[in-house]
Amino acid sequence: MRSTKFLGLTGAAAVMTLTLAACGGTDASGGGDSTELRLALNQTETHPSYIALDNMGQNLEDATGGSVSVDVYANETLGAQQEAIQLVSDGSVDMAVVSGTQLENLNPEFQVFNLPGVFDNVEHQMSVVGDDAIVGELYASLEEQNLTVLGGFTQGTRSIYNAKAPINTPEDMQGMKVRVQESDVQLDMIKAMKGAPTPMAFGEVYTALQSGVIDAAENNEVSYLTQKHSEVAKYFSNTNHLVGLDYVVINTDAYEAMSEEDRTAFDEQWDAAVTEHTALWTTETEKAHTELEAAGVEFNDVDAEAFQTALKPLIEKYVKTDSAKKIYDAARAAAK
Ligand code: GCU
Repeated sequence: MRSTKFLGLTGAAAVMTLTLAACGGTDASGGGDSTELRLALNQTETHPSYIALDNMGQNLEDATGGSVSVDVYANETLGAQQEAIQLVSDGSVDMAVVSGTQLENLNPEFQVFNLPGVFDNVEHQMSVVGDDAIVGELYASLEEQNLTVLGGFTQGTRSIYNAKAPINTPEDMQGMKVRVQESDVQLDMIKAMKGAPTPMAFGEVYTALQSGVIDAAENNEVSYLTQKHSEVAKYFSNTNHLVGLDYVVINTDAYEAMSEEDRTAFDEQWDAAVTEHTALWTTETEKAHTELEAAGVEFNDVDAEAFQTALKPLIEKYVKTDSAKKIYDAARAAAK
């Protein structure tokens, strides 16, 4: 079933992106013109997703003799993820990186991969989301919305950070306003951890933390650093409550408009981008941790069992239908 409750396009983003799309005037039919695929990203240019996709674009341009390239627009310049997914669906933007939370609003079966406890670690997650036997049908379900899911990029392990004091147990989060992505799973996840969830776009989190509109947020160390959230919320508590997942999506018409040769090159470069991203994830997380410690961030370990117990009921709540169970069981069976 399709849910559009979170979909909405801000006027400014729409006008800007439609104008950009019109500038291209490209022809992906292989008839000699070059196609520049515009990709919407909400991260900075130092984030692994930018680096891997920017490299993908350059390598693709070389591999196709200039026929196809990818241009990555960082920092939400083409709109926050909630708008970006709609722009890719309607073709005004060609590609986007969106969190799994956005895809659960298009097809609730994506919720399974957004749940705490589904993935043990990045390696497990990447083996599942790269396995066509597990994800093939799920990904294909978005084709009716003109979206082709190329695959997943890890978000790594996510934890809670705030400006007041270290968190050790869910009780410490009682009454805390915690920013969440626009998703039912995320809302319930923070409620289960005893916090008060506040949905908001990624790009608004820094100011919301700074002004006290929210008390806390949750993310991986890489985004915590690159978005500078560490400047305004220096207590990073290792709740490790979730291994998050991003997807890279492309407008199906744009994908199919490529010549067979160009599409083969595109698919090869996409595979290379996933490999590069996963490798970068490890090194950039280590670098971020060192940099954050040097900048005075206070890391602490939590009562992991208390958080696991609090979060467990989410699986029962969200893994209900036969198809959700099938995806969940296959994902868990792939855990080592
Ligand atoms: C991560 C993820 C993004 C997501 C963000 C968020 O940084 O990679 O895709 O938008 O978290 O919390 O909104």
